[in-house]
Amino acid sequence: MSSPELLSDFGAVDAGAAAAPGVRGGTRRFLLWDLPLRVFHWSLAASVTTAIVTGELGGSWMAWHGRAGLAVVGLLVFRAVWGVVGSTTSRFAQFAPSPAGVVAYLRGRWRGIGHNPLGALSVFALLGLLSLQAATGLFGNDDIAFAGPLNHLVADSAGLRATGWHRLLADGLFVLLALHLLAVAFHVIVKRHRLIRPMITGRQDAPAGKPMPSAPRAGSAFGLLVAVALAAAGVLALLGAGETPVAAKTHTAAPAPAW
Ligand code: HEM
Ligand code: HEM
Repeated sequence: MSSPELLSDFGAVDAGAAAAPGVRGGTRRFLLWDLPLRVFHWSLAASVTTAIVTGELGGSWMAWHGRAGLAVVGLLVFRAVWGVVGSTTSRFAQFAPSPAGVVAYLRGRWRGIGHNPLGALSVFALLGLLSLQAATGLFGNDDIAFAGPLNHLVADSAGLRATGWHRLLADGLFVLLALHLLAVAFHVIVKRHRLIRPMITGRQDAPAGKPMPSAPRAGSAFGLLVAVALAAAGVLALLGAGETPVAAKTHTAAPAPAW
């Protein structure tokens, strides 16, 4: 089973000839980002934004911070699998940047579809930093009433260190996110590249005569199932690991004296 809309059937890209389906007025329209990747991107943007806002607000918002953070964990697990079994432009191996690729791109000699070599660097940096951010959050606590679901598994000192890293990494994340948004704005406003629409509709226009670098392939439906199942299993396991409110933890560790 391979639904073109869902899994990005790039067949029309290679058709090339003017009579090919998807050819309109000298341009070919093809599916650049498959639906799972687009759903991933906007869900990630929403949950990371929620996590940042609720993390900064603190207090009673921390319960929502935990939920948003777990959503980020699930999305990252999904992306890790989809990066192996997804459609061509979603695969890590397809856009893994090399120094030669970055140089070619900077000299205007890069020809390809999907993430360009420089953009790919920021994609890996964002995904990597978000993974560290989520991982440290799982072991952290806010010293008031909220603890990550894995906080009770580690010594207090390790939990404190994880929390410290979590705060520090958040600052790095702000920088990367600002760069991400500035880069998108630069491409859209200055270079007049239509980047945002493909991340919404999936579709991109290319000049009909433009040679396509390789024959893109659709993602695997079974792979999609596995990616969603693993993401859900990861989130459920963390939910099951349970939150140990710091207040409760302190009570059991140091019972109040009887006198
Ligand atoms: C917290 C907010 C956001 C996060 C965490 C985020 C993260 C990401 C990530 C990880 C990718 C790579 C996609 C992949 O996995 O292959 C990406 C790509 C992209 N993002 Fe965002 N994003 C955010 C907000 C936005 C916003 C607000 C816009 C547009 C207004 C945007 C536009 C794009 C575009 C156009 C791409 C594709 C870039 C390309 O063509 O190579 N993002 N984003
Ligand atoms: C990638 C997703 C996440 C982002 C972007 C994020 C971001 C933030 C931010 C901005 C803060 C405030 C830091 C400060 O006070 O300076 C914070 C605090 C916190 N986050 Fe997250 N977080 C994420 C995931 C998680 C997860 C999954 C958990 C655990 C379930 C978690 C647990 C905590 C805790 C316990 C604090 C309080 C630390 C303190 O006392 O300052 N976070 N987070």
